[in-house]
Amino acid sequence: MAVAQRYDVGSGTEFPEGVIVGKNIGGQDVVFIRRLGKVQCYFDQCTHQPVKLSRCGEATAGKLVCQVHGGTFDLDNSGAVLVDPPMDALKSFVCEETAGQVAVYI
Ligand code: FES
Repeated sequence: MAVAQRYDVGSGTEFPEGVIVGKNIGGQDVVFIRRLGKVQCYFDQCTHQPVKLSRCGEATAGKLVCQVHGGTFDLDNSGAVLVDPPMDALKSFVCEETAGQVAVYI
């Protein structure tokens, strides 16, 4: 298993609460979402079909909803499925925010 690499991804101000921010980090398309003050990071793809959550997703009240078929993921439980059709949780990556700077391990 490969060891995750740390990437600095920017100032915390670039990640406002509840806004989906898409970025390419280390060759991976990912989305960042701040929930209750904490930045989270997920692979930028719905687990139902290969559509980008940065384009088709909406973050609301602790949930990330894929607007294509209404698949819903839990932002309070590492991207677990709340509403199908997706069967699998979103792939998540560890984030940290130190002195106003956000980093992710991919
Ligand atoms: S493509 Fe996301 S729910 Fe179907």
